[in-house]
Amino acid sequence: MARVNENFLKLKAGYLFPEIGRRVKAFTESEPEKAKRLIRCGIGDVTEPLPGAAREAMKSAVDELGVRETFRGYGPEQGYEFLRKAIVDNAFNGFGIEAGEIFVSDGSKCDTGNILDIFGDGLRIAITDPVYPVYVDTNVMAGNTGEADESGRFGGLVYLPCTAENNFEPALPEEPVDLIYLCFPNNPTGTVATRAQLEKWVAYAREHEAVILFDAAYESFIQGTEIPHSIYEIDGARECAIEFRSFSKNGGFTGVRCAYTVVPKDLMGTTQGGEKVALHGLWARRQSTKFNGVSYPVQRAAEALFSV
Ligand SMILES: Cc1ncc(COP(=O)(O)O)c(C=O)c1O
Repeated sequence: MARVNENFLKLKAGYLFPEIGRRVKAFTESEPEKAKRLIRCGIGDVTEPLPGAAREAMKSAVDELGVRETFRGYGPEQGYEFLRKAIVDNAFNGFGIEAGEIFVSDGSKCDTGNILDIFGDGLRIAITDPVYPVYVDTNVMAGNTGEADESGRFGGLVYLPCTAENNFEPALPEEPVDLIYLCFPNNPTGTVATRAQLEKWVAYAREHEAVILFDAAYESFIQGTEIPHSIYEIDGARECAIEFRSFSKNGGFTGVRCAYTVVPKDLMGTTQGGEKVALHGLWARRQSTKFNGVSYPVQRAAEALFSV
């Protein structure tokens, strides 16, 4: 008998964004006048087309693929060296990150979901509230939660409220946790994290041997010069944080698909028996088994974004 993963059945209303889309459509059809004033909080998208540099790089990469001498088939699962080097030189210059710690992928959505593959069961997980729904739903699918209550919050997760009262700044968990999802600049609140706030999180994670999953998909929206762009600007973050970055927002790549995850080689997890294991090796193993890399033209286009 093909038994199903019953954790999926806890996700009653389907993924949030299609559900919002369905409800907006129904409301627009039944209340066309009121719908003109509707503020849409569903999935957003970029408003600008692809930059010329990315298009040109993609076109010439496609031409290379049409010539026997320059054709490329399967690429390295972790991404081509040229892109990983461009990422380190441009996005992490001076933050102590090396090209071998960059894993190029087809999206931060997949990466923030798939990362749970390398963590064990029964972890205590802290999630800011409100939050990008992928973090919650993937934990539900992985069996890391109980059922949802009437407010839609799942048993077993440690929710960290972000409200006007606390200036949308999540407080440290009152109970010890093992995994912490942070997203700055934040979706959906738009809040950025100061250096002092990130230092507080890094200190907490190191004290509790927790791992921070730092989603910086909106990094390019940071304007204040004092606001860190990467968690690795904070001393000690290499030992406690994984960072997710995406070309979706800064390059208009929501349809093209390219992102990357940074897993420092110093970052350790722990086995049940107390042995330390490098998360870098586990993620490399996971990606090389379940992922075959981003296409060559897309990686060339992503590289070209650093020239814009
Ligand atoms: C917080 C956050 N992380 C990740 C993503 C997804 O990024 P990608 O397009 O690289 O999958 C989004 C998309 O809206 C997002 O809001």
